[in-house]
Parts: sequence; C-alpha cells; structure tokens
Amino acid sequence: MEIQPAGPLEGQLSLPGDKSLAHRHLIRAALVSGRTVIRNLPAAGDVESTARVLKALGVIVEGDAAITTVDSPGCAGWREPGDSLNCGNSGTTARLMLGLLAGAGFETVLDGDESLRRRPMERVAEPLKAMGARIETTGGGLPARIRPAELNGIDYELPVASAQVKSALLLAGLRAGGRTRVLEPQPSRDHTERLLGLNPELLPPAPGREYPVRVWSTGREDMPLKCWGGVSLPGDPSSAAFLVAAALLLKGSKIQLDNLLLNPYRKGYLDWLEDQGAGILQHEIAGDAACGPYYCSMESCDQGDLCPIGEPVGNVLVFHGPELGGGSIEERQVPGLIDEIPALAAVAMGGVGTFRVNGAAELRLKESDRIAGTCRMLRAFGGTVREFDDGFELEAPAGIRAGRFDAEGDHRLAMAAWVLALAADGPSELEGHESVQVSFPEFPRVLRQLLTRE
Ligand code: S3P
Repeated sequence: MEIQPAGPLEGQLSLPGDKSLAHRHLIRAALVSGRTVIRNLPAAGDVESTARVLKALGVIVEGDAAITTVDSPGCAGWREPGDSLNCGNSGTTARLMLGLLAGAGFETVLDGDESLRRRPMERVAEPLKAMGARIETTGGGLPARIRPAELNGIDYELPVASAQVKSALLLAGLRAGGRTRVLEPQPSRDHTERLLGLNPELLPPAPGREYPVRVWSTGREDMPLKCWGGVSLPGDPSSAAFLVAAALLLKGSKIQLDNLLLNPYRKGYLDWLEDQGAGILQHEIAGDAACGPYYCSMESCDQGDLCPIGEPVGNVLVFHGPELGGGSIEERQVPGLIDEIPALAAVAMGGVGTFRVNGAAELRLKESDRIAGTCRMLRAFGGTVREFDDGFELEAPAGIRAGRFDAEGDHRLAMAAWVLALAADGPSELEGHESVQVSFPEFPRVLRQLLTRE
C-alpha cells in the first residue's frame, strides 16, 4: 500500500475499549454465572480470539462493539470443547486460558497462528505444573494439551515482569487448594488484580530495584465472584500511542483523546514523553484512590465520580510542540511502556540526537522480534540504528525519508511505520498493514477522520 505524506491531525475523539481490559472482562464475565453487559468492547482480532475460546466452552457472547452481552453458566458449568481452542495471534488469550483451564477438570488443547506458536508458553506452564497442572507444550509453545488435574497453591516469584504470567497464575489460583502467591519484583499492568478486587502485600524492594515487591494471592475462597452486571471499557492507550506519535510528528497537529485508560502501568509512554517536553496534557477524571470495582452505571463517569471500571481514566491533549531531543528508556521503565516502544521510536525519528532503549529483551518475544523489527523500520525511513540484545540506539535523521517497509504481520510495527510514512518526505510503501486488525482495525478510519477534520 502506498502512503502519502499528510498532516496535521486535528480533532477530538474516544477510542475503542482497551484490549487488555477486554480480554479480562470477557473472562470475568465467563467465570461468574449470569449476564454481564460490556460496552465499548474493541473489535480487535485478539479480543475475538478470547470470545471464540469462551464460546467453545459454552459461554454465550453476543452483540456488537457498542453493547456485548455475555451469558455464562459460571466456570463450574463450562463444557469440554470438541476441538482445539484457537487463540489466533493473541498471547494474552493463550496464556490467561492456560491458567484458567489448568484446573477446569476436563481436557483441552490450546493452539494459535504461526506467530503465536513460536511464542514461549513454558513461562506459564512451568509454574502451573508446580501447582499440579498436567500441561504438555510443543517444544515450549503451542499447541499445548491441558489434562484434568487437582491444583494446589504455590509461592512463585516472577522471573520476568509479565502481566500475562501473573494473571494466568492468579486465575489458576481461583481453582486451587490453599493460596497461590505471586511475588512481583518489578510491577507490570495490574488489571487482573483490580478486576478480582485483590490487595497486595508489600515486601522491601529486591536488591538493586526501587519498587517494593508486591505479593498478590488468590484462592478458592475468592470464587464465586459477584456478577457486576455491566462495565464500560475506557479507550485503549496502546492504540492511542500511534495517534499520539502522529500528532507529535506532524506540524500543526492538536488532538484530544477522551475517556482513555490511564492505568499507571499502561501510560508509561505518556509520562515518558511528557518528561521529554512533548506536547502532552493528561487530565485524569477519576483518581486511582477513588476507583473500586462496582456495578457500573455507565453514564456516570463525570469528574469526581467513581470510575466504574476500577481503573483510572482521563482525557489527553496532544499537540505538536518543541522538537524532542532523543532520550533513553531504562529497564525499570520498560514494563510500563513495552507495547509502545515502536511508537516512541517513530516519535524519536522526528527529533534530534540519540534515542536509546535498554533492558527490553522481552520485546524479542512479542508477536514478532520487535527489537529487530523496530530497527529494520527505523532504517527503512532513514534512521541510523545500532541493535543490542536487549534494545537499540537510534540517531535521528535530519528528516524522515520516504521508505519501503514490510511489517511481516506485526500490528504494532505496521502502525508505527504508517505514522512514519505520514511524516516522510515523499510517498512510502507499507506491506503487512492489514495486521492492524489484530488490535486496532479502526486505525485507518480514525487517521482519515483526524487528517480531514471530519
Ligand atoms: C499484556 C501484557 C504484556 C503486553 C501484551 C498484553 C496483557 O505482555 O505486552 O501486549 O494484557 O496482560 P507480557 O505480560 O508478556 O509482558
């Protein structure tokens, strides 16, 4: 596909609901017996994967993005699926389902597309097996067979800051005897913990770390969960990142994104950009402390109100401002902005000086090897790049050059390259752009809307 340089971006809009929250709210709704209504569920392929897997277990998921209803018999009433469960491209689906199904009492096989089959599943299977689960992966990945087993709680210290591993173990803990305690030396997104209404124990920071270790635990007594009735999902900050990047790169841009999820472990990229002096104003409309899960009245998320979703939410203004001067992302910052590194690298291409990312080896294990892919993308548009095992260093070019790039099926690389193409000095060629359907199918339409000020 050819992309012409364009800009500026102008307008105000709310985005489809957050993908991480969507997986978890579908799962929560499926765990409890009764009906849950979810508003603003994103039409993302990954979220459809979670819905498809739950449907195969006997949960009824109906409706559209505006209003989705989930009718579940509760996890005790899930039925053994006839076929293997297809998790598509979605790592979150596969890993959370491994945890959920390890103690389900029937046999299942989880599978996924080529990219998902290459991603590591032992990081979840291994601690689950220590809980008594009977899981057989294929060379450490999918397909994975889960046989019926009685689970017992364990104490497990996460070796990597992974919300997917943490969530899988906490979900498995709901069906295990005793307590399942997950020690988290470096914090990552805490949506599952909020969703289950958990409170952490705090231990002193591990040597060389600045955060206290959070210890989360679940057990059978945390089930059954109360049916919330309804929730409304705030906009996805990870999808927003590409619009933010475009607005920062394209002269004269000014956009406002309303009702955006502002979880502290998801908005790391906004905080980082703000620290660099980028044109960003965040306005939280429901403070962290005010949040608590409760039945959602949906229309009542005004300033000062409780946030119905149990997550901080707010409006964000982004405008093209001063030229940015590179900067660096350190290991401790990585979990809070891991999915936004390609978008941040795109922003750095429009600045001056050196942009450096360290301690991000996990990026090599995403939908594609995103360190290699990001470096390839930056070079394609004129950047000078040095690649390391756990990151990279970019010398921004004097101007972004028109490029040719193949995202090779990785949705985040496709959107980051799309943004660079808009800011380039001539028409660019982008292959693999259809992968945006994995997380943000509306991206082309939203871009058009902001470019033409509809
Ligand atoms: C996610 C957690 C992160 C993130 C992924 C979504 C989640 O992965 O990269 O896109 O919803 O829990 P890890 O848990 O592997 O870091």
